[in-house]
Amino acid sequence: MKVVTTITEMQSEINRQKELGKSIGFVPTMGFLHEGHLTLMKKARQENDIVVISIFVNPIQFGPGEDYETYPRDFERDLELAQGEKIDYLFHPSVEEMYPHSSTVKVVVQERTDVLCGKSRPGHFDGVATILTKLFTIMMPTRAYFGKKDAQQVAVVEGLISDFHFPIQLVPVDIVREEDGLAKSSRNVKLLHDERKQATALYRSLQIARETIENGERNPINVIQLIERHIKDETSGIVDYIEVYSYPSLNRLEKIKGSIIIALAVKFSRVRLIDNVMMDVN
Ligand code: PAJ
Repeated sequence: MKVVTTITEMQSEINRQKELGKSIGFVPTMGFLHEGHLTLMKKARQENDIVVISIFVNPIQFGPGEDYETYPRDFERDLELAQGEKIDYLFHPSVEEMYPHSSTVKVVVQERTDVLCGKSRPGHFDGVATILTKLFTIMMPTRAYFGKKDAQQVAVVEGLISDFHFPIQLVPVDIVREEDGLAKSSRNVKLLHDERKQATALYRSLQIARETIENGERNPINVIQLIERHIKDETSGIVDYIEVYSYPSLNRLEKIKGSIIIALAVKFSRVRLIDNVMMDVN
């Protein structure tokens, strides 16, 4: 595995591989790798000649008062984990390398940002779309891998790839969970001991919601109330949002039908967690 820190070197490596006719699988991450990230890498390894991952905590996707400074980082550990996945290139640029001067252009996401995380994190998806535009341009990947844990991000990336005509195949990957159901996240280490136990209620509440829909419930308000009650009863967390939308268009639903997402965000004392389930409803 080659660790690359400059854009020029990364581009020349990519050019070399492209000239050799190699397919390139790309997994963008912010590091502090866990089984969720590694699953994306394994899939990329199976489907491509060359696998590139990036580790870059992107400052412009964090809002004021969010956790950019305290976002967990451990590059040495990440290196070992990436090596175990037989990654070809690990791109690990500095903030100065990615943002050498104040930006003259940024990518603004127009749709699907007034809901879910877009609503509670204004500007977040502009930051994500801007860094991904840079990374896609550098890597020119054949396929790019994203986790459905960040379902809204997948929807936004779908729009970015299609609107900007990136010749990239987007590969969404299922959520990887701990044995007790908690969705794996770099941020889980910030949960206090008791909160870690309580956090299993997030997925449990989504499962309860799925079961009631399977049993015939079609009113989104009832589903949302059911989840809210469960989270209030079982955790000390504060609900940021609980929503039921069509997916991937992310439109509000009067009646539950078609391809849908049930998504939530809950704030604990030091960390905000997100989770979701998707389902097809007749
Ligand atoms: P990060 O949070 O590090 O996540 C990197 C990728 O791993 C994302 O596609 C995310 O959805 C996926 N992922 C995280 N936890 C997962 C889980 N439990 N199961 C499956 N996939 C999971 O998302 C970002 O970084 C950034 O926004 C980025 C795209 C790198 C842009 O800066």
